[in-house]
Amino acid sequence: MKMLFRVLPVFLVMALLAGLYAHAQSDGWLTGATDRDEQIALIEDYIGGYSGTMMEVGYRFESTHQAIQDDNHELAAYHWDKLGGAMEWGGIKRPARAENAELLFLGAPWENLDEALRDNDSERVVDLFNVARGACMACHEAEGVGFMNDQPLLRNTEIAP
Ligand code: HEC
Repeated sequence: MKMLFRVLPVFLVMALLAGLYAHAQSDGWLTGATDRDEQIALIEDYIGGYSGTMMEVGYRFESTHQAIQDDNHELAAYHWDKLGGAMEWGGIKRPARAENAELLFLGAPWENLDEALRDNDSERVVDLFNVARGACMACHEAEGVGFMNDQPLLRNTEIAP
């Protein structure tokens, strides 16, 4: 019995430590990593590559489309600006995609719509939105993901003049 009282505290302390360890494992997925390189690798993995960028681009594209149809060019310009920023971050994360992004999209197609929205020029806005939509699709073809174009976000977003 005396022996039991001697070892019991040891067991309790061990159980407490095991509990704390498990807690650190489940919550501190980043702070619990052993060194800085491992932490950075985890962040990089979690942020992801081009598909994460394209999810944001898709959302901004749809919002731009809606804002143009609502004749809210200020809101459309806001989303279009964020879309360009997201696309640039995509190129930083995946330099192999940056060349086509710049060649096919970030030059005239992005810039001209940006300008027309700021000028509040409805006729040019509609024309240039359709041009930019075509540039999205051309890049999907060029990057070997042409199947991306066969979805409502791209199939149904051409705006009638
Ligand atoms: C660099 C050329 C390029 C341009 C420009 C581009 N895309 Fe993409 N897009 C891709 C690639 C590559 C993928 C596939 C990503 C992957 O497999 O990781 C993709 C995937 C997507 C996806 C699927 C994302 C997902 O994983 O859920 C959507 C939606 C999308 N693009 C919309 C657009 C729209 C809208 C535009 C124009 C505003 C656009 N893209 C412009 C290359 C491009």
